[in-house]
Amino acid sequence: MELLINGERHTVKADADATLLQVLRDELDLTGTKYGCGEGQCGACTVLSGNTAVRACQTPLGAVQGKAITTIEGLAKDGKLHPVQQAYLEADVFQCGYCAPGMLMSTVALLRANPNPSEAEIIRFMNGNVCRCGTYPRILTAIKEAAK
Ligand code: FES
Repeated sequence: MELLINGERHTVKADADATLLQVLRDELDLTGTKYGCGEGQCGACTVLSGNTAVRACQTPLGAVQGKAITTIEGLAKDGKLHPVQQAYLEADVFQCGYCAPGMLMSTVALLRANPNPSEAEIIRFMNGNVCRCGTYPRILTAIKEAAK
């Protein structure tokens, strides 16, 4: 099966019903995308399919064939952090960082769909991404800065 990930074509051996998360981590060694709950509840495995945030642990490979997938490894370009990554860095958001890739990918999806979200819209959109360290106030700050 052919996948387009971070602008590169990959031929993978997995069955169409294998999850995107399994293939990213175990076959392609793109381990920036995290396994958290495995049940679509925590957001740690969030990647982009086109401009849409998807839970890679709940996404069968067959559903993303021919779609442009972006993982956390594909955000920075030419040695420069993506503006969302830069905003999170400047807001000193993370503690353990396990939720970071999913948070960042969801934020990118949010700002592509709504470049100037209200606080309520940010909270509603990011509601499915869990941070066990409770860094939510700093995440909110970072997203507001990234939206400026
Ligand atoms: Fe996919 Fe938790 S690991 S949502």
